[in-house]
Amino acid sequence: MKYTEVNITLSKHDPFRDMLVYCLGDEGPYDSFVETEKGLKAYVPSQNYDDSFLKRCISDLKAVDNMLDCEYTVSELPDKDYNEEWERGHQAVLVEDFCWVRAPFHQHREDVAFEIEIEPKMSFGTAHHSTTYLMLSLLRDEPLSGRRLLDMGTGTGVLAILAAMKGAAYVEAIDVDELAYRNAKENFERNGVDVSLLIGDASLLTPDKQFDVILANINRNILLRDMAAYSSVLVDGGTLFLSGFYEHDVLALQNKALEQGLQIVLQKNRDEWCALKLVKKLS
Ligand SMILES: C[S@@+](CC[C@H](N)C(=O)[O-])C[C@H]1O[C@@H](n2cnc3c(N)ncnc32)[C@H](O)[C@@H]1O
Repeated sequence: MKYTEVNITLSKHDPFRDMLVYCLGDEGPYDSFVETEKGLKAYVPSQNYDDSFLKRCISDLKAVDNMLDCEYTVSELPDKDYNEEWERGHQAVLVEDFCWVRAPFHQHREDVAFEIEIEPKMSFGTAHHSTTYLMLSLLRDEPLSGRRLLDMGTGTGVLAILAAMKGAAYVEAIDVDELAYRNAKENFERNGVDVSLLIGDASLLTPDKQFDVILANINRNILLRDMAAYSSVLVDGGTLFLSGFYEHDVLALQNKALEQGLQIVLQKNRDEWCALKLVKKLS
C-alpha cells in the first residue's frame, strides 16, 4: 500500500502534539505517528490523504493558542509493507522468566506464568523500558491475592494487568493522559482483566478509599510532589512501589518517604534506572 508521510513542525509540543495525534488518528484516517524533535511525523494511506482535513486539525490547534506556529511538508513514500517492517523491528519482552509482554502480532508462549498482550500505540509501558521491566520484576515476588491495588500513571496498563492476573481483589488505574487512558482501556479488555480506570492525578485520591499496594512509575518530581497523597491512601503496613528515576535520585525520594513513615526495603537497578519497594510503618 502507498503511504503518505506528513512531517509537522510545532513551535510548542505540549499539549499540541497529543491533540494532533487525537485529531488525525481518532477522528481521521492516520494510523501511525513518530514523535520528532520538532514535532511529529504522521502516516496515512495515500488514498485517504486529504489536505483540507489536515488543515482543519491544525486550525483547531490554533484556535486553542493563536501564537502556535505549525508548518508541514507532505511526501509520498515508496510502496512497501510498512506494517510488516515495523512489526519485525518491535520485539516482545520476556521479563526474567515469568512474564511475556507481547504485541498482538507476536507469538503466544506456553512456558511462562503470565502473558500480557499490549497494543503498542503512543503510550508508555511495553516492558522495553527498564522502569517498566523493574516494576514487573518487583511484582513477581509480591503476593497480591486478595489485596487492593492502585496503579498511578498506568500508561498502557501493563502493571495493572499483571496485578489483576496475580489475583488482586480490586485494581484501580489512573493516568493524566487521555491517550494513555484509551490505550489502557483497550488493553484491559484485550487481556480480559477487570480494572477500574480513571483519568486524572493524585487529586482523585481520597482517604475513604484505601489500598494495600500502590504502584507509581512516573518521574522523580511527580513522585516527590505526590508521595504524601499516595501515602494518605495506603494502609499501615501497605507497600508502595516506585520507579521512573535514576539511582542518584534515591536519596531525595528516601527523605520524602521517611516524612511519610515509608521505609525502603528493597532497591533494584537496571541500566541507570531504579525501582524501590517501600513499606508504610504500622502506627
Ligand atoms: C513512565 S510511564 C509508566 C507507564 C506504566 N505504568 C509502566 O510502568 O510502564 C508514566 C505514566 O504516568 C502518567 N502520568 C504523568 N504524570 C502523572 C500524574 N501526575 N498522575 C498520574 N499519571 C501521570 C503519564 O501519562 C504516563 O502514562
